[in-house]
Amino acid sequence: MIATMQSLSSNDIIQESDKIMSTKKCILALLESKRGQSVSGEYIAAQLNVSRNAVWKAIRELKKDGYKIEAVTNKGYCLSGDNDILSVQGMLPYLSQEKNSDKIFVYDSLESTNKTAKEMAISKAEHGTTIIADSQTKGKGRYNRTFYSPPGHGIYMSFVLHPKQLQFTTPTLITSFAAVSVCEAIEAITDKTPQIKWVNDIFLDGKKICGILSEAVTDFESGNTQWIVVGIGINFNTPLMDFPEDLRQIAGSVFTDGNASTTRNHLAAEIMNRIAALKYDEKKILAKYKQRLFMLGEEILVSQASETYIATAIDIDDIGRLIVKKDSGEILSLSSGEITIRAMIPE
Ligand code: BTN
Repeated sequence: MIATMQSLSSNDIIQESDKIMSTKKCILALLESKRGQSVSGEYIAAQLNVSRNAVWKAIRELKKDGYKIEAVTNKGYCLSGDNDILSVQGMLPYLSQEKNSDKIFVYDSLESTNKTAKEMAISKAEHGTTIIADSQTKGKGRYNRTFYSPPGHGIYMSFVLHPKQLQFTTPTLITSFAAVSVCEAIEAITDKTPQIKWVNDIFLDGKKICGILSEAVTDFESGNTQWIVVGIGINFNTPLMDFPEDLRQIAGSVFTDGNASTTRNHLAAEIMNRIAALKYDEKKILAKYKQRLFMLGEEILVSQASETYIATAIDIDDIGRLIVKKDSGEILSLSSGEITIRAMIPE
């Protein structure tokens, strides 16, 4: 074996490792499509037209990457049902349009998926390009806050969208659309019913489980929006004690007890299916959005750049602004700001 390697040129070695790489990806896709079931080495080798040895080598590499693959004598290889490593192959079985998988890029760690998505947008990424990371070192939240993005527990994803391909007359509604999509995706594959806190935070059992940050990439000369990047951060199975102390009272997770009934790959794919479809009209989105808002009729604390005041949340208008009524009777339409429900403020 060593002699063979030594006789290879560096080009051959690159081709050899490319081959292992693509065999590895194909085997992963096959095992993901048959999660929890044993697949024989012989079957895999025949399907991919490679040797049994190549299968063995690729499985060894996958195990090194952390995949829980059991080798059972006379049965073959089995990818454990609770394996939850983010990968395009793991999302494939759940994607409604397999062709979209070419536009999905999964990373172990990024500074921020929004940052990478914006860079990709500038270098002419396709509409619908999706960047996903297992962790972020500088996850970005609204108002330049950081977004807690540890490895292994969350989904951090950003979509590159082309305004011309969106049928929205109110561009900010794309964020509301994303919020509705995340809620519907969670509801479709779990027994949970998430709600929305204006503007676009997603809550479950009184705790924030998801934040959304949309950013525009504008043309320097014309000032026109060339791209919209929609970034979604979800706490999927984050143990509550893992959150930094200042977040523990407010942050939650889709699953909190370590018993996730589904995987991050499944949820990420369900969200992509909805965002890629973009079939809703604005009226429908707003109706769905409003249905999930949990603060209408409540007394709220509104914090805007220069002031903080108490008001009652009354309604959402047809461009997603929050209509509030101050104690003085004055009615305001808010397009940005931070609100807190008074009843939820600790004494
Ligand atoms: C907020 O709640 O303030 C918005 C948080 C948005 C976080 C997501 S995680 C994926 C994407 N990349 C980022 O850096 N931010 C968004």
